[in-house]
Amino acid sequence: MKVVKIIAIILLIAFVGIQFMPVDRNQSDSVPKTDFMLVNDVPSDVKDKLQASCYDCHSNNTQYPWYNKVQPVAWFLEGHIKEGKAELNFNMWDSLSSRRKASKLRSIIKQIENSEMPLDSYTLIHKKAAFSEEEIQQVVKYMENLKDSL
Ligand code: HEC
Repeated sequence: MKVVKIIAIILLIAFVGIQFMPVDRNQSDSVPKTDFMLVNDVPSDVKDKLQASCYDCHSNNTQYPWYNKVQPVAWFLEGHIKEGKAELNFNMWDSLSSRRKASKLRSIIKQIENSEMPLDSYTLIHKKAAFSEEEIQQVVKYMENLKDSL
């Protein structure tokens, strides 16, 4: 019992300690004119879904409710944001050529259809980000249409 208590105390101290480690916050005051939502005519339900599910890692602006500020969540998120933005940044959408847009759309469709995005580790905490079967179909249909209109 004593050992368990000591371990619990050490873990608690470590948990409190890591809360003070610095993190880069992914935040920006303005939305660039190249943003996906500004250059496309996106129905509001698709827009809300993408912003809730993808924008934390694929834009210049992450929402930081308390649970995103708690370590180690903040660290995981920081790593994912760097990698995610390198692959796709919805804020910079219109700076891509039509060819690259088409290839990103194919990739987005694949990720959503296969339930690879948003990441499971993310939807575990961000319940609103998870897709229902219906939402998958709705968003995929929108992306297909957009791809065909390029
Ligand atoms: C928790 C952060 C996070 C969220 C939320 C997230 N992604 Fe990602 N995404 C990543 C990371 C990290 C990568 C790069 C590594 C990988 O492919 O797994 C990535 C890669 C991608 C890629 C490129 C994949 C490839 O290999 O071609 C696409 C497309 C993508 N994400 C789309 C989305 C869409 C659409 C959503 C919302 C439905 C979303 N992501 C939500 C973190 C995230």
